[in-house]
Amino acid sequence: MINESVSPLLGREELFAVPTSDGSFTLYNKLFKATYHSLYGAVSESKHTYRQKCLDTQLHKARICILEFGFGTGLNAFLAFLFSQKHQLQVDYFGLECLPIEVSIINDLDYPGYLAFPDQKDILIKMHETRAFNTEYFTFQRHDSWNSLPDKVDFDCIFFDAFAPEVQPELWGQDMFDRLYRATASGGCLVTYCAKGDVRRNMEHSGYLVSRIPGAPGKRQMLQAFKPQ
Ligand SMILES: C[S@@+](CC[C@H](N)C(=O)[O-])C[C@H]1O[C@@H](n2cnc3c(N)ncnc32)[C@H](O)[C@@H]1O
Repeated sequence: MINESVSPLLGREELFAVPTSDGSFTLYNKLFKATYHSLYGAVSESKHTYRQKCLDTQLHKARICILEFGFGTGLNAFLAFLFSQKHQLQVDYFGLECLPIEVSIINDLDYPGYLAFPDQKDILIKMHETRAFNTEYFTFQRHDSWNSLPDKVDFDCIFFDAFAPEVQPELWGQDMFDRLYRATASGGCLVTYCAKGDVRRNMEHSGYLVSRIPGAPGKRQMLQAFKPQ
């Protein structure tokens, strides 16, 4: 069951928009002193890391179930929605976010316009305004924490997009990857923009088969991990 309690929203006191090298914007969070995406390109990073290196690896499945740790602006969730429409493939997206963002800030970023899907803007806004909805080929759920996630779901794709280990070290430890491994479907894929050795070792210790692969534009490497079949 989804917790319908209203979390306080981050607003313009805590966040401001920053341009990135591909012309798309990201947000800077003053509380964490961190940006939500790479400054080399917010949309380029999302497309490369989460769509190409994770979603595209699961295209052989009849239905793809995604868990994202760090829903944030909703950019990765919106790309997952566009993926479902393009491939006419059922995608079930579950996002974890403890600090949701005011909708007016999301409007200003205008990811649907940047991606040339301005007519789909309502979908991204709905992801921020409601915690769950269904549309053709796509279901969406947003949760504050693990506790309200359904137990029985095995995730084909895990987008691990917390703030960096230097900022949130508690989220990159062995416990986290053990938990994610248990929640990953056989043959499922976990990706993150981070390529640190400690993180890689934690993933391997959990049971994932991990590779360092070329990262998004401007980033040399990222991690891609599969749960063995
Ligand atoms: C790097 S940003 C994610 C960017 C996001 N994927 C996007 O496309 O905009 C990290 C996100 O993780 C969220 N976060 C941090 N700690 C969390 C926690 N313990 N549980 C859930 N979300 C968390 C932050 O509030 C932030 O939105």
